[in-house]
Amino acid sequence: MNDFNKYLSDVVETVNNKLKLYMNKASFPGRESSGFDVMLNAMSYSLEDGGKRIRPFLCVEFCRLFGGNTEAAYAPACAIEMVHTYSLIHDDLPCMDDDDIRRGKPSNHIKFGYANALLAGDALLTLAFETIAGADGLAADIKNRVTYELSVAAGPSGMIAGQVMDLDNEGKNAPIETVRQTDILKTGKMICASGRIGSIVAEADEKQLKTAQEYCENIGLAFQVVDDILDVTSSDEVLGKPVGSDDSNNKSTYVTLLGLDGAKKYARELTDKAIESVKDYDNNDMLISLAGYLCDRLN
Ligand code: IPE
Ligand code: IPE
Ligand code: MG
Ligand code: MG
Ligand code: MG
Repeated sequence: MNDFNKYLSDVVETVNNKLKLYMNKASFPGRESSGFDVMLNAMSYSLEDGGKRIRPFLCVEFCRLFGGNTEAAYAPACAIEMVHTYSLIHDDLPCMDDDDIRRGKPSNHIKFGYANALLAGDALLTLAFETIAGADGLAADIKNRVTYELSVAAGPSGMIAGQVMDLDNEGKNAPIETVRQTDILKTGKMICASGRIGSIVAEADEKQLKTAQEYCENIGLAFQVVDDILDVTSSDEVLGKPVGSDDSNNKSTYVTLLGLDGAKKYARELTDKAIESVKDYDNNDMLISLAGYLCDRLN
């Protein structure tokens, strides 16, 4: 394993352990009743096992880049992953993308039924904000700013707006500017919030926040371009979710708009721009490796 892979897997292991703790601490009255057991299982089924944990990694790493206490960044990092996991559970529902596999396993609604999938998503979204509000080691004003960033990124002017646009684009041969705007919202906003939240925990100044924003905007868009590429080039087994989902939902993607080679070239350009934005900082090595890893990833 090279340095980056080892470093990433250490952060992922810490995130996974902390997610388990947050799930165990979650305060569900009537937890002993069977209904709650199913719901809790549905939450941990999607949350605890699988996922690249890219967003938590960005949160922790931007905190480190700007000299913050990375230990304090893990609660918001886990909260971001909870919001992301909820978005995937709902994204797979038949009324959305109708996908049966996620993170290499049957999608939440296939395993637990529609109602539990819906509620597990709602519960993860809510638990995220409980996790931030109840975090040790974060000052009240930092919690406030973190809550604001995450709620704006995930909400009706962020990821939800992107998901609405994404569904609206189906079957319309949406032009590239519409696809770009959709992707900035549905994927980019949560990725940007991840870097910005880590920076806020480090009490970064405006210039540093701008750096985090620039880096994350570029890898965020590159991330969705690569997601669209893998939807065409990968296999269900390697990707851990169904390939061909975009085609079967008649989505306009970077691959349909630019061709496979054009999409790959665009992802590389965005990756190079991201790398450029952190070039003047010490301790930027892991963020530089991350950008390359995300561009060349296989799942
Ligand atoms: C998938 O996100 C959804 C998109 C925003 C494209 P990831 O590729 O980060 O999914 P996991 O968390 O690793 O499963
Ligand atoms: C999903 O985009 C973005 C979310 C907000 C979950 P996709 O629909 O392309 O993500 P995948 O391909 O199902 O992971
Ligand atoms: Mg979708
Ligand atoms: Mg989808
Ligand atoms: Mg996709």
